[in-house]
Amino acid sequence: MKKASLMSTIFIAGILTACGDNNAAEENMNDNGGADNETNVETENNDDNNNNENLDENDEEQNNDNEDDMNDENMNNEANHDNNNDGTNDSSEDDAEDTSAEGTDNEAKIIAHRGASGHAPEATSFAIDQAIDMGADWIELDIQKTADDELVAFHDDEIDRTTDGEGEIGDHTLEELKELDAGSWFNEENPDDADEAYEGAEILSLEEIFEEYGEDVNYYIETKSTYLNEDMEEPMVNMVEEFGYEDNVIIQSFHQDSLQEISELNSDIPLVQLLWWEVDEETGEMEEWLDVTPAPDDMTEEDFDAIADYADGIGPHLEYYDGTEVIDEDFVQTMRDHDFMVHIYTINEEDDMHRLMDWGVTGLFTDYPDRMQDVLDERS
Ligand code: G3P
Ligand code: CA
Repeated sequence: MKKASLMSTIFIAGILTACGDNNAAEENMNDNGGADNETNVETENNDDNNNNENLDENDEEQNNDNEDDMNDENMNNEANHDNNNDGTNDSSEDDAEDTSAEGTDNEAKIIAHRGASGHAPEATSFAIDQAIDMGADWIELDIQKTADDELVAFHDDEIDRTTDGEGEIGDHTLEELKELDAGSWFNEENPDDADEAYEGAEILSLEEIFEEYGEDVNYYIETKSTYLNEDMEEPMVNMVEEFGYEDNVIIQSFHQDSLQEISELNSDIPLVQLLWWEVDEETGEMEEWLDVTPAPDDMTEEDFDAIADYADGIGPHLEYYDGTEVIDEDFVQTMRDHDFMVHIYTINEEDDMHRLMDWGVTGLFTDYPDRMQDVLDERS
């Protein structure tokens, strides 16, 4: 794919912001040569959703010791679609039940965004451990390639924001990355939630994560920035197969051709097409970042069929930077009617969680798995 490189920095800054990552957005903005008024406004508007200062006091107390839940076979049911390559997207009976539009609130899966990244340094063992303790169904991790072609869990294209290093992640070997401190930044940014243990937290390879957390955990991994991380699909699929984790993994991506390639490599691994719509502030028109789809209201049967050809789920955002909501209940229902898993990113406010569950989503990416667990408990 490798189509988007020109605008990638600006778009990535935007997505970082919408995903609860204002600092990363600012970093990308700066790297892009300076101020982008739109992004500045957007970053401010996302403070309410994303700022770690808004953490509840309930982090420790609300760890529900739900590790056993991670073993629940129901956890995987939603993802176990038959993903055919012949243009169909058949579901087993169980799957049809899981993705039915009449599904119950409890079917909404907790997808811990970079682990419990609202509570601990993202994509480190601390964030993963806390997400598991909080009852997350899935551990979401962005995957990139190192200079020596290792797969590592890391979101930003550059290591500056979340480590004491500098430069692009792809310019560093795994050994070099392991020497970095990927935790102290969190303490500096979140003094109320700082923990000395986070100092020196390591960047983790995907292999290490699979080995450490094993088959009782579900991994929702993303082929990130494929215009930089070329040819990461085959090694990723090989690793999933070597570990026998086809039932423990969802692979997500904004990059359609990355998912299509994975679908061809192994049609058993559930895939989710991520979507990001830019909103023209003057006209209100929406344009999907990588031209995967038209605006939500303009999507046709053919558009849904094209995604269903390789993917089992769709992962849209809820809001544009300025607060414009890009999807609504009808769109969620339309996605459900097409038998897609519907996973919305990145939802940190309980009101939004309730509203989206009312709409019928089947999962939410959140930095605060504990908040979502509370919401699910309230609704049960
Ligand atoms: O994977 C869903 C969401 O995480 C996409 O945004 O930028 O946080 O990877 P980002
Ligand atoms: Ca992600």
